[in-house]
Amino acid sequence: NTRTPLIAGNWKMNLDHLQAIAFVQKLAWTLKDAGHKYTDVEVSVFPPFTDIRSVQNLVEADKLELAYGAQDVSMHDSGAYTGEIPGGFLNALGCSYVIIGHSERRQYHGENDEIVGNKVKAALKHGVVPVLCVGETEAELEEFGPSAVPVAQLKKALEGVSQDAAIVIAYEPVWAIGTGKVATEEQAEAVCAAIRVALGEVLGDAAAQRTRILYGGSVKANNIAGFMRQPNIDGALVGGASLDVAEFSSIARFQ
Ligand code: G3H
Repeated sequence: NTRTPLIAGNWKMNLDHLQAIAFVQKLAWTLKDAGHKYTDVEVSVFPPFTDIRSVQNLVEADKLELAYGAQDVSMHDSGAYTGEIPGGFLNALGCSYVIIGHSERRQYHGENDEIVGNKVKAALKHGVVPVLCVGETEAELEEFGPSAVPVAQLKKALEGVSQDAAIVIAYEPVWAIGTGKVATEEQAEAVCAAIRVALGEVLGDAAAQRTRILYGGSVKANNIAGFMRQPNIDGALVGGASLDVAEFSSIARFQ
């Protein structure tokens, strides 16, 4: 396939803007030293909102080969929504991507499929590529089997999205996030393959072939290679291990 792999580091609520500057400088140098080619494997960081301007300054000043994005976006464009950040502001800061519907937002901030779908459309409207997260809890896995919940979440979130929209999907089994309980390569591949079939049903075959599907959930340097060998896994959404420069740059090299 012609999909460029994407290794995405979701910092969650870690690293303030000063720590972010030091981290991104070190990451860029480590990747460069290792001979990393951005055109072969795209690397993106997802810092907290308050870091993004600093990351943008650094990436632009030093012409770093690194993408960045936000961890959430408002479904609204502007107005009386205290605490929210709209897609237009992310675009203005040069964000390539925005994570939408992460299980932590679904779980702790009451985001349902309708909200997630509206956020996907808001990101697209403002020219920021949504990284749409889907995944099942352990109880849902037992009740409905492996791909039913992620596929249903995907279909709801993509209702009304145009066939030529640039999107990324991240499959993250909730039971594998931050738990060290990693899905097997076969388990992850089976769900990602089902997601690609669903993408074809919703957005057509061309979109299904072009769209990158990431696996997320306890990805580390010592298990990335196995995931990247799977035909329907095009990268990883990394949480904990993205906070360590050496580990994350190893993951970006699949080793
Ligand atoms: O967004 C990243 C995922 O929630 C995975 O987190 O790598 O710490 O398990 P984790």
